Amino acid sequence: MKRTMILFGILFAIGAPISAYAEGTEHSVEEMKQHHHMMQTDEPKADGRISLKLTPHMKQHQLANMRSHVEAVQSIIGMMAEGEFDKASAVAHNKLGLTPKMKKMCNMFDNDDFKKLGLAFHKSADELGNVLKTGNMKLSLTALHKTMSSCVQCHATFRQ
Ligand code: HEC
Repeated sequence: MKRTMILFGILFAIGAPISAYAEGTEHSVEEMKQHHHMMQTDEPKADGRISLKLTPHMKQHQLANMRSHVEAVQSIIGMMAEGEFDKASAVAHNKLGLTPKMKKMCNMFDNDDFKKLGLAFHKSADELGNVLKTGNMKLSLTALHKTMSSCVQCHATFRQ
């Protein structure tokens, strides 16, 4: 009996700090979540853009796609400077144009206006590809400017 009491006492003595610790941990996890939430909450009040309400997976996917877009534009400009218009045309069609892959990606979004803008952008990139093929620098720059106006317009309107 005495032994049981002692054992009980020990267990209680150990148990109490453990549960206090667990509570403490829970608390700080909760705090961390809140903090995280605060950092992520740049809701529409912060800027007037429309949120696409993307899942974390779609966000990563979209940003990777966007980084490839900016890289394509950089390549196109470099190739134009080198007079390699055929190469630049291929990049415009394959990396920015309305390929089946791009069409599929645009259609994954819930927002019709976003979809429209996205499709118009890819079509303008195909036009850019056609103009580049002529080798005319001035017309190519005008077409590139038009395509990039889609980048600017969409970024001004939508956010993740
Ligand atoms: C139809 C809409 C749309 C078009 C067109 C568009 N983007 Fe984006 N882009 C977005 C959205 C939405 C984001 C995320 C912005 C945010 O949440 O702040 C983004 C983000 C980006 C980013 C940030 C990537 C990162 O890793 O942080 C880059 C770079 C970018 N876009 C480049 C481009 C370029 C270059 C073009 C044109 C050649 C372009 N985008 C065309 C919608 C678009």
